[in-house]
Amino acid sequence: MRLPLIAGNWKMFKTVGEAVVFAKVLKPIVKDLQGVEIVLAPPFTAIHAVAEAVRHENIFVASQDLHWEKEGAFTGEISAPMIKEAGAEFAIIGHSERRQLFGETDVTVNRKLRAVLTSALTPIVCIGETLDEREHNQTLAVLDRQIQGAFDGVTADEISELVIAYEPVWAIGTGRVATPAQAEDVHAHIRARLRQWFGATAAEHCHVIYGGSVKPDNIIDLMREPDVDGALVGGASLDAQSFADIVTKARATV
Ligand code: PGA
Repeated sequence: MRLPLIAGNWKMFKTVGEAVVFAKVLKPIVKDLQGVEIVLAPPFTAIHAVAEAVRHENIFVASQDLHWEKEGAFTGEISAPMIKEAGAEFAIIGHSERRQLFGETDVTVNRKLRAVLTSALTPIVCIGETLDEREHNQTLAVLDRQIQGAFDGVTADEISELVIAYEPVWAIGTGRVATPAQAEDVHAHIRARLRQWFGATAAEHCHVIYGGSVKPDNIIDLMREPDVDGALVGGASLDAQSFADIVTKARATV
């Protein structure tokens, strides 16, 4: 059974001090919540401080990106072993902002995914179509291409362990959330493809979470869909109470 997973993607928000305050506010609110996985993705600079602040708690830390090499002359980059040592257990890969603004491609997503798996971190791989692609009925073809590119050479056992975040680009930061039915259509398609390409067990175990304008007032309807296993939350994860509301409501739907 797939436990719901709610991840907060803080993007380029919060200093170390602000991040620690957030963790201190969140901890007591979610302390007794079982049966839900809670993940925070602070900027690189705050990974260690947040990991220390939530140590021994039911909250895990993710990086928002990484480089695929272990080390080397790559000015400005951070590797999987580095984020792992800093205290992260998850790594977001292929966020649409990285794809659109920083030249991320399916090939680099695949390299990063392999690096993350080698370092025993759990990958959260983001895929999703633009508005133009949706309006031209290319959504499923785009997702198929992203899945095939990202998961090239990845084994069925590895697929079982990972998290896929379906994030329609037109819903990110726009306040325009996919309807639960739109999300479910795509999530069911993703799971069908995983079944076809990696087998039934991998498809059953892999988390497929939704991202794009998730808020406390829409999480319940999204989570009621059978193939929506959680959420990747941007804007609404920046406030501890709003993030805790999303986590609590997601937990209540299972
Ligand atoms: P949003 O961002 O919740 O602000 O739309 C989601 C994301 O980019 O992961």
